[in-house]
Amino acid sequence: MEMPVREIKSDIYSVGAIDWDRKLFDELIPLPEGTSYNSYIVKGSQKTALIDTVDPAKEKELIANLEELKIDKIDYIIANHAEQDHSGSIPKILELYPDAKVVTNIKCQKMLMDLLFINDDKFIVINDGETLPLGNKTLQFIFAPWVHWPETMFTYLKEDKILFTCDFLGSHFASDKLFVEDEVAVYFAAKRYYAEIMMPFRTTIRKNIEKISELEVDIIAPSHGQVYKNPEFIINAYRDWISDEVKNEVVIPYISMHGSTAKMVKYFENALKDRGIKVKSFSLTETDIGELAVALVDSATVVIGSPTVLTGSHPAVVYAAYLANALKPKTKFVSVIGSYGWGGMMVEQLKGMLGNLKVELLEPVVVKGYPKKEDFEALSRLADEILKKHETIISKGV
Ligand code: FEO
Repeated sequence: MEMPVREIKSDIYSVGAIDWDRKLFDELIPLPEGTSYNSYIVKGSQKTALIDTVDPAKEKELIANLEELKIDKIDYIIANHAEQDHSGSIPKILELYPDAKVVTNIKCQKMLMDLLFINDDKFIVINDGETLPLGNKTLQFIFAPWVHWPETMFTYLKEDKILFTCDFLGSHFASDKLFVEDEVAVYFAAKRYYAEIMMPFRTTIRKNIEKISELEVDIIAPSHGQVYKNPEFIINAYRDWISDEVKNEVVIPYISMHGSTAKMVKYFENALKDRGIKVKSFSLTETDIGELAVALVDSATVVIGSPTVLTGSHPAVVYAAYLANALKPKTKFVSVIGSYGWGGMMVEQLKGMLGNLKVELLEPVVVKGYPKKEDFEALSRLADEILKKHETIISKGV
């Protein structure tokens, strides 16, 4: 289903494409709600700018939208980010609008030349804070590196107080509605997006949020998902996610081959619940890995459950541990529970894989064969320890 052009404000249009059917991003991230590649036209009294483009697979939809709007001249293509889901249609737009210049920062220019073979005479390179007049409208560029690539930047439309943030503050959320209406649904989609893409950059996000706070912003228009007419909604959500505050929760990603680890996980879940701790368990053979990423955003503790395969952890657990380490959640405590048949180095292996996390390792409970009375007692002690640790760092009522 193609989407029509949609007006944001006078002379400002959404001309991107909605990808209802895409199920996987980067061949890694599940997209339960599809996604969109938002592109925007800003028509000034003298110049017209296109802000970002779309994934090349949706190039025809962008072109059809520009035709529908009767855009016969594009002066500037603003590239906020070089990743191909936003930049990939720039070569085609340059072909159709040969007088257009690509306006971006020096890092993004070099990336676009490498990724898309765009000649350097096609660029206008701008600096942080620089403005670009379009006549009665003015664009300002705000460098925001590392959300989530080194070249990322925002574009601010001063007169209309619209901030175009590209990936930042976005969501993989396909909808025929331009603006956010259902904040609950978008909250979860945006949290998933944050977890999968932005979480490793939590500290740089803080700086970028502060930059945004200095601007008067009425509308935030990201390049994935819906447009925010209530910017505080998404900014406050981000402030919460990037804060150092964690919740009284334990995330348990686990695998069980013959039932021993599953038995331990079940017992441990109940032990935690009895102590007033919220539990989120994920059977890794069934779970959507994005759900696990979301759970990692603000949980205080992760307890990995695994059987031993040969001498190490189950490969599906290794994958989850690798991902958790890469996503750098603000988790404070980690432990391992599980079983082995004849030996292994599972705890050492998993510990070695979590080097990015600033966590304290709590006494693991790894048992031989099926868990016995003393093993359940050890799990109870681990639950006690987690409660004690949580009480030291989590304010009452959380
Ligand atoms: Fe949506 Fe980093 O590209």
